[in-house]
Amino acid sequence: MSHLFTPLPLRDVTLRNRVVVAPMWQYAGVGGMPTDWHLMHLGRFADGGAALVFQEATSVERRGCGTLGDVGIWDDSFVEPLSRLARIMRDNGAVPGIQIGHSGRKARMKTPMAGRGPLERTPGIPDWDDWEPIAPSPVPLKEGFEPPREMTTQDIDDVVSAFGAAAHRAARAGYQALEIHAGHGYLLHQFLSPLTNRRKDRYGGTLENRTRIVLEVAEAVRESWPDHLPLFIRLSCVDNAGWELSDTISLVRELASLGVDVFDCSAGGLVGSPVRTGANLTYGYQVEYARAVRQATGVRTMAVGLLVHAQHAEQVVANGDSDLIAIAREALHNPNWPLDAALKLKVEDPYSLTAPTSGFWLRQRAAKIPGFVPSTQAP
Ligand SMILES: Cc1cc2nc3c(=O)[nH]c(=O)nc-3n(C[C@H](O)[C@H](O)[C@H](O)COP(=O)(O)O)c2cc1C
Repeated sequence: MSHLFTPLPLRDVTLRNRVVVAPMWQYAGVGGMPTDWHLMHLGRFADGGAALVFQEATSVERRGCGTLGDVGIWDDSFVEPLSRLARIMRDNGAVPGIQIGHSGRKARMKTPMAGRGPLERTPGIPDWDDWEPIAPSPVPLKEGFEPPREMTTQDIDDVVSAFGAAAHRAARAGYQALEIHAGHGYLLHQFLSPLTNRRKDRYGGTLENRTRIVLEVAEAVRESWPDHLPLFIRLSCVDNAGWELSDTISLVRELASLGVDVFDCSAGGLVGSPVRTGANLTYGYQVEYARAVRQATGVRTMAVGLLVHAQHAEQVVANGDSDLIAIAREALHNPNWPLDAALKLKVEDPYSLTAPTSGFWLRQRAAKIPGFVPSTQAP
């Protein structure tokens, strides 16, 4: 029996297996609206057998967009176009998920493909001034960036309410799992780390103060997000900038008591790349955080980061390191990764993971050709 292919109930939603597609920015939105590209991008992961597919970080405020191509959920006009994305995932067998976030000082940037520098003001961006980078403190992202504007307490209240309103819209659009993005150096993480949070008020200084906004967001989201649907949060469990695993563990305990169901254990992003400096960039390089958080607190965790091979993913779940595994780049390489893993792990009727038409032809091909081996496995 495969642990990776054992269903997992989360509140009233049952994941058909333990494979999740992690959120991936596509930089393909127009004016914050999703495009046909998003339908294709998300739909193929559902057809490939993932239990849950998270749509990219979707901005809760206009000023929270990282790049020109970010997708948003900051007013009701987004509900209908987003519902198409939720529907294509659900209709093809996956639980439709959405990550909601705010870029803070990482707003108004060029895409990674264009070098991640600060964006220049051009007449093509009519709402430039509404797209103001804000942050807990005016600490620039790096050389060449202007300092962000320090948030007032009114800004903080507005952001907390925006997360709550976004959760409500996400439910209306038909998503069945929601993740708060509190990692990778984006706004909520900027509050957690003393490097970016130099505030002297109740949102800065002590650990209790630096975590306050994340707890307020979790509370607001849990209030607006239906009780029967699961809530995830993504944390950078260590960031090499003053936020340590012990801080994560104490925050996780509080978040769990507020009704967060699954902890998506990533790392880094506040400075440098989302990898702890000095860590060996090996398969499963962040599994240790999911394991540590799960062992210390008993919560459900999701491991992410270079999980590429089926047997390894199976072991991570079987060992009790995490309840779920998430794949990002490997899903781009092979959107049928879950189907492929099911074949490798000899799961019964692997083709039932794909949408009915794909499953019909693939099942028939395997049955009719003795010794048949697909291209993803050694002949
Ligand atoms: C194209 C791309 C876009 C990404 N966008 C997001 C995002 O929107 N939100 C987020 O939390 N992480 C984002 N990530 C990080 C991934 O979710 C994941 O944590 C990371 O790529 C490590 O997993 P992997 O080794 O399976 O790719 C992105 C990664 C890639 C490659």
